[in-house]
Amino acid sequence: MPDIAYIQGKYIPLEEARLPLTDRACYFADAVYEVFATFGGKVFLFDEHMARLERSLQAVRIPFALDRQWMAERVAEGIRRCGYTETLIYLQISRGEALREKKSPTASPPTLFMTFRPKPQIPPDVRERGLSVLLVPDDRWARCNIKTIMLLPNILAHQKALDNGFDDAVFYDAQRNVLHEASSANLFLAAGNRLITPAEGPKILSGTVRSYVVRLARENGIAVEERDVEVGEILRADEAFLTGTTSEVLAVVRVNQTPLGDGRPGPLTRRLHGLFLESLKHL
Ligand code: PDD
Repeated sequence: MPDIAYIQGKYIPLEEARLPLTDRACYFADAVYEVFATFGGKVFLFDEHMARLERSLQAVRIPFALDRQWMAERVAEGIRRCGYTETLIYLQISRGEALREKKSPTASPPTLFMTFRPKPQIPPDVRERGLSVLLVPDDRWARCNIKTIMLLPNILAHQKALDNGFDDAVFYDAQRNVLHEASSANLFLAAGNRLITPAEGPKILSGTVRSYVVRLARENGIAVEERDVEVGEILRADEAFLTGTTSEVLAVVRVNQTPLGDGRPGPLTRRLHGLFLESLKHL
């Protein structure tokens, strides 16, 4: 089955899809995006992803009138055509095509494309052993709640973690000494039977799975604190985990050189991942 792109109103094989060099995404990373996936063949949290996309478009003033029904139909058709058991959908909207000038183009409409690929699965042994993370000073901009494709700091932080033998990086604010998020997932700590996660705000992405897990935990009697989280708290935490579209609920078992708990995925993390998977059956 081929990977598929939806571009200029057509579904074509991904390897044939092209963007003009004059697309603002190429010159300026002047584009916003979403990544969402199917679980059991159904798109998970579609409305939440569309709501965040609308907020991103508005925040960077890309004039794209998003019609959710229209988008849902295009997404469903892409999923149908690629025929994968579970699909990962990437959706990008740029400010359109123009010669390289800072001022926004008026003549060209925004460029939308989507790609449809198999959803990557976290290998069972990785899920079983959990992740190691490297704490990295956050050198991103002041509006990380906007999902723009300007991801160079995330890429460099992730690669730094890999180069040093870690699975991922977790950004922290070196001035305020507080934790932010991982390179493409949100962060939770567990202390006793409580969860603690950085509050939403301009320094983290409002993760769709983050909100889902906060709600799921509370519905199951697990208290969740959303607030500033000091760096030292993760080093003293019983457990930690990441949430995101591709991670689901994924244990963190080592932070820099410090093992958390007994260095294996903890009971609360396992319970939440179980609750997460169970909840998907009832969507
Ligand atoms: N990333 N934080 C960052 C910086 C992210 O890039 C992501 C998602 C998340 C989690 O968001 P959600 O729960 O809505 O997936 C948090 C996507 C998957 C990506 O860039 O590939």
